[in-house]
Amino acid sequence: MAKHAGRLELTWTDKDKALLSAGDGRYDYTFVDRADPRVREVRLLHEVDRVEAPIPEERPDDLPEPTRENLLITGDAMHVLDALSKTPEWAQKYVGKVKLVYIDPPFNTGQAFPQYEDNIEHSIWLTMLRDRLRQIKPLLASDGSVWVHLDDAEVHRCRAVMDEELGESNFIATIVWQKAYSPKNSAKYLSVDHDYILVYAKSADAWRPNDLGRSASMDAAYGNPDKDPRGPWKPGDLLANKPYSLGRYPITTPSGRELDGPPPGRYWRVSATKLREMDADGRIYWGADGSNVPAVKRFLSDVRGAVPRTMWFYSDVGHNQTAKNEIQSLFPGIDPFATPKPERLLHRIIHVATHPNDVVLDCFAGSGTTAAVAHKMGRRWITSELIADTASAFAKPRLTRVVDGDDPGGITKSTERVAATDAGLPEMTPAEAQEFGRLLGKVAKDRDDLDPATVRALRAATRTRDETTVTWHGGGGFTHLAVGPSMYDVDEDDGDVYLSTAATNGPWSQAVAAQLRFTLTPDHPVFCGARGRQRLAVIDGVADEIVVGTVVEHLGPKERAVIVAKVVLPEAESRLAQSAPGSRIKKAPRDLFPKRTVR
Ligand SMILES: C[S@@+](CC[C@H](N)C(=O)[O-])C[C@H]1O[C@@H](n2cnc3c(N)ncnc32)[C@H](O)[C@@H]1O
Repeated sequence: MAKHAGRLELTWTDKDKALLSAGDGRYDYTFVDRADPRVREVRLLHEVDRVEAPIPEERPDDLPEPTRENLLITGDAMHVLDALSKTPEWAQKYVGKVKLVYIDPPFNTGQAFPQYEDNIEHSIWLTMLRDRLRQIKPLLASDGSVWVHLDDAEVHRCRAVMDEELGESNFIATIVWQKAYSPKNSAKYLSVDHDYILVYAKSADAWRPNDLGRSASMDAAYGNPDKDPRGPWKPGDLLANKPYSLGRYPITTPSGRELDGPPPGRYWRVSATKLREMDADGRIYWGADGSNVPAVKRFLSDVRGAVPRTMWFYSDVGHNQTAKNEIQSLFPGIDPFATPKPERLLHRIIHVATHPNDVVLDCFAGSGTTAAVAHKMGRRWITSELIADTASAFAKPRLTRVVDGDDPGGITKSTERVAATDAGLPEMTPAEAQEFGRLLGKVAKDRDDLDPATVRALRAATRTRDETTVTWHGGGGFTHLAVGPSMYDVDEDDGDVYLSTAATNGPWSQAVAAQLRFTLTPDHPVFCGARGRQRLAVIDGVADEIVVGTVVEHLGPKERAVIVAKVVLPEAESRLAQSAPGSRIKKAPRDLFPKRTVR
């Protein structure tokens, strides 16, 4: 047998490289070496402001508590994700803690939208997506999941990349969302009705979805004709087709009717002894007069909710126009955000994949739907948006209104159509009641021998109505952060790297601390960071003997110094080696980023 080599993978131009965006909020990307300091540096997140509101008194106690520890971040997801997972202060809070990542990145459809360009080359798109997945992975909780929303443009390639990055065995499902309400008659070929959502778990062994809530129509099949204190139930068949050695015996019903046994080729599901036990426990129904074939009572309290399925219809989760309407009613008078998603779609995803207070991350915020819905559902959230204008025109004001209880749209109210059947009619689902009304109207039109008063009474008895519940009242808060500037400039001609004009004083020390994974120690007069027994001193200037002397003076017993300076004199190095063995001195940027021409 020939020996095989290689593995199944999708390849593309410059797959081994990294991408840098122009940094001016546009989709202007260039491929660079993965060792490029502008890729490897950890950017700082600066606080812009804080939005907060008290919990309103009218909020019922059974709703999840509004959350406060939430982040809206303006900046490139590339820097946001690194800042969250590599800066010790953020990493402590979020590494391994994110339960759900939902991303709705630009689809690469070749269209140009008012707020962003979507015509990135496939290889740029794939590199961008692959790198974001790599950065998301350390943030995911062991029982977390990643949901990527796409259309036909990249879904097939993205699935291959997700197999590579997250593991083929962690693939959970592809959800098909019916996004279109009506056909596009201008379609060149077929009118596309749906998008895809690829779902992967961090570990398919650990991840479990929550059942969907049961709707009133599903519950309408349950009644309680015998007023069982265990609540509503519905009759289940006692007959089975599968052979069962104890499943053929005669039964005498409570009214004295003799049943010879199950019909030929069929079996009672339970043995005679078990049937007696269940009957004694009130779990068998014999019909109103006690002479029916016995049925097993299946209690509503024992059944699970609906298992989530992969086809999501707009009647349940909204369509594209629903989403546009939601944005338009929040921001009347301005051009709506081009590609929002409906709140009910996010509600279902967040419901299936998280519990209250879990952390939800969406690093392609757009109009902020994920964060808005997560907030209304009592989840903590982090969301980031590259385009500052999009964040300031849509995501931030929207989230502020959610916190202030000033967003009546989306999932703030939930409306369910319920049947108002009574007057001795059998229980009907809303759909059945509507159908009954329709047929009744049809029959009554053709027949003049029906009593109009009876028809009217039947109509009234089967009318359906909408029942509305308010599930969000406001409260909680979020911090608005912005990604700080790069600390490095690269000479495009020779590739040499220099410190940028932003690399001064406090911001530079903090960036160096983040880069070297030191936790900030802002109150210390000399050291700006600590990592185990190491203490970090960042010098915005020359490190000489005097500087080294001061640093060493402040070291505690068994502590070692890491000194980073823009210029390092030779005598500083020898003095440090003598007076604090095990300590190190680094010249920036050269010694911060190995394997590069860095000056
Ligand atoms: C399809 S939209 C998301 C829409 C969002 N789901 C909603 O309901 O409004 C994609 C968004 O990702 C943003 N984006 C693109 N590249 C980004 C990046 N590198 N970092 C952060 N955001 C980015 C775009 O500016 C755009 O607003």
